[in-house]
Amino acid sequence: MNTIDFQQKLLAWFDVCGRKDLPWQRNITPYRIWLSEIMLQQTQVITVIAYFEAFTKKFPTVDALAHAPVDEVLGLWSGLGYYARARNLHKSAQIIAEQGYFPNTLEALVALPGIGLSTAGAIMSIAFQKRQPILDGNVKRVLTRFNAISGWPGQAEVNKTLWAVSADFTPIDRVADYTQAIMDLGATLCTRSKPQCVRCPVNTACLARLTDTVAVLPTPKVS
Ligand code: ADE
Repeated sequence: MNTIDFQQKLLAWFDVCGRKDLPWQRNITPYRIWLSEIMLQQTQVITVIAYFEAFTKKFPTVDALAHAPVDEVLGLWSGLGYYARARNLHKSAQIIAEQGYFPNTLEALVALPGIGLSTAGAIMSIAFQKRQPILDGNVKRVLTRFNAISGWPGQAEVNKTLWAVSADFTPIDRVADYTQAIMDLGATLCTRSKPQCVRCPVNTACLARLTDTVAVLPTPKVS
């Protein structure tokens, strides 16, 4: 299976089984995608939904967020955890408001507090339709297994390989759907424990499955 087949199978699965009606998938703006990606970094979709709705109701725009007192921002974040995310969001909103436009390059996005390479890639692909790879925990698991890449992904060499693979697999067309699809696959079927390989759209070519190594990939830190 080449990368084109992988993309097509994944997208066909997404069209039927993917999540397409989440609050941040409606009225797509860079601000809303950024906010959702920050909330989703350490928190599950099901929990994020209500927080996202309340947050965007109170702060519908970057400007509104930038001009709010930080305590109000933290109040709306209360219960989500990892409060540095809220502080960085607020700081970034002030930088963006000052600039007068939402950053639309990878470089400008990673320069903002709280935005790493993968989050920047997600914003570029989902909000701006730019072909840009992502590599969050879910995507690492999918790519590690599909290509049977061993070695702890936290290791520089393995991480570098995974970014290269992610870039190679990312399509030119439908890049926003692809990004969402591969995250959904990792979150719903290609899970860490009890993955549902029988339902996976790319199972016939998954090297981990073919070599019976799904359970041991990704390689844990100590081994
Ligand atoms: N985790 C990070 N970003 C996500 C997204 N857009 N959808 C689902 N899970 C995610």
